[in-house]
Amino acid sequence: MKQGARIYLDYAATTPMDKKVLRAMEPYFCEKYGNPASIHSWGQEIQAAIDKAREQVTKFLNCKSSEIVFTGSASESDNFAIRGLLKALKRRKRAGEKIHIITSQIEHKAVLETCHDLEKENVKVTYLPVGNDGIINLDDLKAEITPETDLISIMYVNNETGAIQPIEKIGRLLEEINKTKEHRIFFHTDAVQAANWLSCDVEELGVDLFTLSGHKIYGPKGVGMLYIRQGTPISSLITGGDQEWGLRAGTENVAAIVGIGIAITGIRNTKYEIRNTIKLRDKLVRGVLTQVSKTQLNGPEKPKERAPHIANFSFKGVEGEGLVISLDQKGIGASTGSACTSRALKPSHVLMAMGLSELEAHSSLRVSLGKYTTNIEIDRFLQVLPKVIERLRKISGR
Ligand SMILES: Cc1ncc(COP(=O)(O)O)c(C=O)c1O
Repeated sequence: MKQGARIYLDYAATTPMDKKVLRAMEPYFCEKYGNPASIHSWGQEIQAAIDKAREQVTKFLNCKSSEIVFTGSASESDNFAIRGLLKALKRRKRAGEKIHIITSQIEHKAVLETCHDLEKENVKVTYLPVGNDGIINLDDLKAEITPETDLISIMYVNNETGAIQPIEKIGRLLEEINKTKEHRIFFHTDAVQAANWLSCDVEELGVDLFTLSGHKIYGPKGVGMLYIRQGTPISSLITGGDQEWGLRAGTENVAAIVGIGIAITGIRNTKYEIRNTIKLRDKLVRGVLTQVSKTQLNGPEKPKERAPHIANFSFKGVEGEGLVISLDQKGIGASTGSACTSRALKPSHVLMAMGLSELEAHSSLRVSLGKYTTNIEIDRFLQVLPKVIERLRKISGR
């Protein structure tokens, strides 16, 4: 870290793209411009690049290449997983039969708003609560499953608190239930915040649908992907040409697809990298809790139940947005809640679901670390934060 350099602690919002990714993408703008649908050599070399990226994703997820669909974002993948499955299932339902989805109250808006929207179309949705730790309870989930249940969509890691949800356990539970059920319950997880840290082996996890985003894994923005287990009914939401196995029409964003392929090969998930980030996060958490009075850590208490990169705090008497702006003025980038909702002054739905008061939710700060975060940056953050909080508390008189 250079003197006076800014400190980015918002890796859960987005990550800087790796130079290696940029280099791999560059030829696909001006030099290699064929349309992958063309049968001539211009087109075929581009198709080969897409195939290669799909192989790279396939290796990471332990699946077949025919099970990967590239999309324009994780939000699109979430929409596609839920709406695409429902569209296909509706065609199989008898008249009067309802579709039932179980999700949680702490999902990203891409899932939550999709479910809210579907409720207007007569779909029944159950929103599971979470405990104070921000984790769903498996018994609550079991209790909500009925013979009508079609889909369970639970995120892998919460983007505001880092709370890890029991995806593998749900996968195993559904495997058992599906043995005895007349029709299968499908399982989707939004793994956007998990990809850099946790196993994404779809066989191990027992998921049918799995969402990833390019820009959270040091890849480009505007690209995502959805894993769709072979045999999962799904209908296209964008109709037209037969790109992406006929499931997403439109000429592919080739450079971005090449980029997400390289980005995925860059996820090393090594014990060293994970241990290092956990060490930095734990230092950050200890430092904040000891140096700033009237502060609470939001999320699971047990470090093992939190993804290594996220820590969420509430500071009594401080308004989250004001804190983010003050930190920015000191050259530190952090956030309140998720980036997508940070323009709206609503208290975080995640923190509210965990039982925080509106005031506590409004006084929250999310700090998120990444592979370029250093010890020096955490030290600097810990020097700056207490002073900023003290000043804001003086101003607010609380
Ligand atoms: C858990 C989760 N899901 C989905 C998204 C949306 O990703 P994208 O920006 O690729 O649509 C985000 C981004 O903040 C996220 O954190």
